[in-house]
Amino acid sequence: MKTQVAIVGAGPAGLFLGHLLRAEGIDCVVVERQTPDYVLSRIRAGVLEQVTVGLMERLGLDARLKAEGLVEEGFNLADGERLIRIDVAGLTGKTVVVYGQTEITRDLMDAAPARGLPVLYGAEDVAVHAIESDAPFVTFRHDGADQRLDARFVVGCDGFHGPSRKAIPARAAREFERVYPFGWLGILADVPPCNPELIYANHERGFALASMRSHTRSRYYIDVPLTEKVEDWSDERIWDELAIRLGPDAAAGMTRGPSIEKSIAPLRSYVFEPMRHGSLLLCGDAAHIVPPTGAKGLNLAASDVHYAAEALTAFFRRGDNDAVIGYSAKALARVWKSERFSWSLTKLMHRFPEDGPFERAMQVAELDYIASSVAAQTTIAENYVGLPV
Ligand code: FAD
Ligand code: DHB
Repeated sequence: MKTQVAIVGAGPAGLFLGHLLRAEGIDCVVVERQTPDYVLSRIRAGVLEQVTVGLMERLGLDARLKAEGLVEEGFNLADGERLIRIDVAGLTGKTVVVYGQTEITRDLMDAAPARGLPVLYGAEDVAVHAIESDAPFVTFRHDGADQRLDARFVVGCDGFHGPSRKAIPARAAREFERVYPFGWLGILADVPPCNPELIYANHERGFALASMRSHTRSRYYIDVPLTEKVEDWSDERIWDELAIRLGPDAAAGMTRGPSIEKSIAPLRSYVFEPMRHGSLLLCGDAAHIVPPTGAKGLNLAASDVHYAAEALTAFFRRGDNDAVIGYSAKALARVWKSERFSWSLTKLMHRFPEDGPFERAMQVAELDYIASSVAAQTTIAENYVGLPV
């Protein structure tokens, strides 16, 4: 098989990139290890920045997002006693949209056949080769047969554990990492949200987040030590803990119900540099991870893909290689700013085992300052809504 761009991974990054390239008349093939149902069963991000909504609009795939997405004009930080509202729309003139990663992925998946975007699901032993040449290729097993996909570029959109990043030689790379001593235990339930806007709470007992997918489906998280097992958390135990950590007002509005999904996600900050080596580009979680506080992971994948599509279009349309060479620096400039915001909001809103009374007092003082300062609220709002691409 031969194509212009081989894309590894059909998560949001791979599917977005495939659609953007097809819209420019560039040939590409997406190779994915899992089945479509498995990809859709992973419950992940829920809050979309303008950059992500903009990509759906540009592709003309935003009908369901426009109809079903919830436009959010603000969100709240809770310090155990009060809600500090961040008026995102008032402070920035922009909004975010609640629309699940599952729905974005489904929309992109459903539109692929009609747009001439081949996605090969269930590919085994995917490996990336010859990335330091102008003729890289991807090998895998599909439908019981060994396959080779030749391309001019390979784009690794295969998440944190995929093979693409590992194809870049260590001598050419730098890694930056911070692993956090807790994970987020998430619960999804078909109950109305406790509050029309998201609440991120830092309570004596730990972090909690009240989020949603629709007016009838809620998503909540609490932080737990990494040693915790999801089996030890009955739905009732999670609801009890949420009611305490989110505070009495949110608890009064909370409707309990059976979980339809429950999982623990570890928290990590990670950046791999550079995001291009030879003929291999990396997008999304393949190159970086942010802790989920701040809802940046999916949105960063979208901005990477925006830059990558721009660079590859310049190459195939105008023979401009400079855009491809500049891709890594351009993408990383935005990645580092999102890493900083996610890290700082994680530090502000979680209890770290090593923290003593002084660190707690610093968190309380910072939340108090945010509550009293429009400048501080503006800084948070412009980061939350997403920095310009
Ligand atoms: P992914 O969505 O990881 O997609 C990568 C794709 O590559 C997958 O489909 C995978 O199956 C495929 N792949 C992997 N290996 C191979 C291989 N060998 N061959 C072929 N294909 C392969 N972000 C938020 O903003 N909020 C959240 O609440 C949130 N929760 C998260 C919970 C978890 C458990 C995780 C892992 C992430 C979460 N994120 C969250 C982050 C967000 O979901 C990611 O940033 C986003 O999915 C990145 O998209 P991606 O396409 O780069 O990677
Ligand atoms: C959700 C996840 C996040 O990480 C976040 O910051 C906000 C919302 C969610 O899954 O709804």
